[in-house]
This record gives sequence, C-alpha cells and structure tokens, in this order.
Amino acid sequence: MYEIIAQIVRRAGATVLRAHDIERSVRQKTLPCDLVTEYDGAVQEQLRRELLAAFPDAGFYGEEEAEHDLAGKRAVFIVDPIDGTTNFVRHLHHSCISVGLCVDGKMEYGAVYNPYFDELFTAQRGCGAFLNGEAIRCTDADLAHSLVLFGSAIYYRETIPFTQALVCELLPDTLDFRRGGSAALDLCYLAAGRGDLFFECCLRPWDYAAGSLIAQEAGATVTALDGSPLRFVDRCSVAGGNANNYPALLERVEKIRNLEQNPSPTTLAIESELPKI
Ligand code: IPD
Ligand code: CA
Ligand code: CA
Repeated sequence: MYEIIAQIVRRAGATVLRAHDIERSVRQKTLPCDLVTEYDGAVQEQLRRELLAAFPDAGFYGEEEAEHDLAGKRAVFIVDPIDGTTNFVRHLHHSCISVGLCVDGKMEYGAVYNPYFDELFTAQRGCGAFLNGEAIRCTDADLAHSLVLFGSAIYYRETIPFTQALVCELLPDTLDFRRGGSAALDLCYLAAGRGDLFFECCLRPWDYAAGSLIAQEAGATVTALDGSPLRFVDRCSVAGGNANNYPALLERVEKIRNLEQNPSPTTLAIESELPKI
C-alpha cells in the first residue's frame, strides 16, 4: 500500500538531480545560515500534488509553507522536500527527500531518499527498516565504540551552548563525531549502522518524522533528549541510539543539566532552553 509513497519520493529525487544554477536561486530565510532555494519549493509542490492525488483524505505538513491547515486530518504527511539544503547549495551530495506518514499522532510509514547515491530508506511501523529493499539494523556499540552523528541546530542560536557542552562531555569517551548536515540522513545512517548514536538539540517534525521511524524499526530507541516521546508538532530535541549507548547519552544530558546548580554562562543558557526542548 505504501509502495506508491516510495515511488513518489524517488520521483522527487529526480527533480533534485536535475537542479541547475542552484546558487542563483538561493535565498536567506530568517538568518544568514538559514537558506532556501527555488528547488525546495518546487520539490515540495511536486510531493504535495502527487501524495494528495494518491491519498486525497490526508493532510500535508511541509517545511516550505507558512500555514498548515490540518484540522480534521487523522493522517498527515510530514514532508521535508530537501533535508540538507546547505549541502545541496554547496554540491555536497548529502541531502535527501523525507516523507513521513503520521496517523493519529504516530508515525506509520517513512521514506528518506538520497538521490545522489540512489539510496532509499523506508520503514512501516512493525515491519522493520530497509535500504533499497534490504533489511537494516542499528548496531549495539557501547559509547566507547560509538561513532556519534549529531546536528548543531544552527538555526536556534540559543541552543548552541548546550550542544557545545554535550559535545565536550561525550567526545573523549566515543570513537569520534561526524556532522553530516541532514538530520533525516543521520537517523537513517543510525538505522543502517553507519553511525551508532545521534542527537540534535532542536529540530522540526519534518527533519525527523520519517527518519525516527526508520531508526526505531531498525532497533534504535529514539526520543527527545530528556527521554520523553517525540512530538510531531512544533520543535523537539532528538536522541537516538541502542540499548548500550542511548542510556549513556541521556545520563550525560542529565549531568549537564545538573550543572545548573553551579551556573556558568553555558549552563545558564542550557537552563533557559532545556525545559522547552
Ligand atoms: C537541517 C538539517 C541539519 C540540521 C538542521 C535542520 P534543512 O534541515 O537537517 O542537519 O542540523 O537542524 O534544520 O534546513 O537542511 O532542511
Ligand atoms: Ca530539514
Ligand atoms: Ca528542508
């Protein structure tokens, strides 16, 4: 039933591959680091048209639109037309189309496609996770053997001190860190065992809707950084890992939060931000 979503996502990938003169279509959103191109909008419109033609009763919650009218919609597509826009603008070839189908507040299906590598990650709730049709599993690495994928939440300047503190806290005890520039691909790489642990202090639902289901179906635990379930409205922090390294990540988060009792400029900033994420 969901195969049609995967086909639509692949077709959107073809539009990304045909993109040309990307630099000329770049515009700044809120901050100089927050970029958008005409392709983000074009890919989103293509996805909206094709997804809603196939599932006329569903709602559509996409990144590139100011208003979302989801009243009365039980099933909602949560869509990032291009996750990794900065990579796209810089021709880094590490960007993807991310489409999640959320039903009654729970992710039911996710597809994340990197057209540059022709890699399609998919998952349906309860049915496992796949890369181009082959089953994938997250690793069972402990913290010391974990390659940590993380996002800098660069659009949310107020979270930078917390990210810095968490990187400093974890880095000496891990294999190493990687910052790829696409949260959706980070979660899929966690699912495929290319990385072992993931966190980002502030993301929007389209960044993690599909990827979180794919990682969970591959055996990972994925929650907010305080261990609470992910929410698919507004903003949320995201933490993902396995039974060995996820508890260690949450312990380190808790340790940093406890430093609030002895505030430094860094920990004060954490205190003001963390309850919200
Ligand atoms: C961004 C990417 C990036 C993450 C940012 C996201 P965008 O999405 O997923 O890895 O660090 O927080 O907003 O803007 O490229 O769609
Ligand atoms: Ca995104
Ligand atoms: Ca995007």
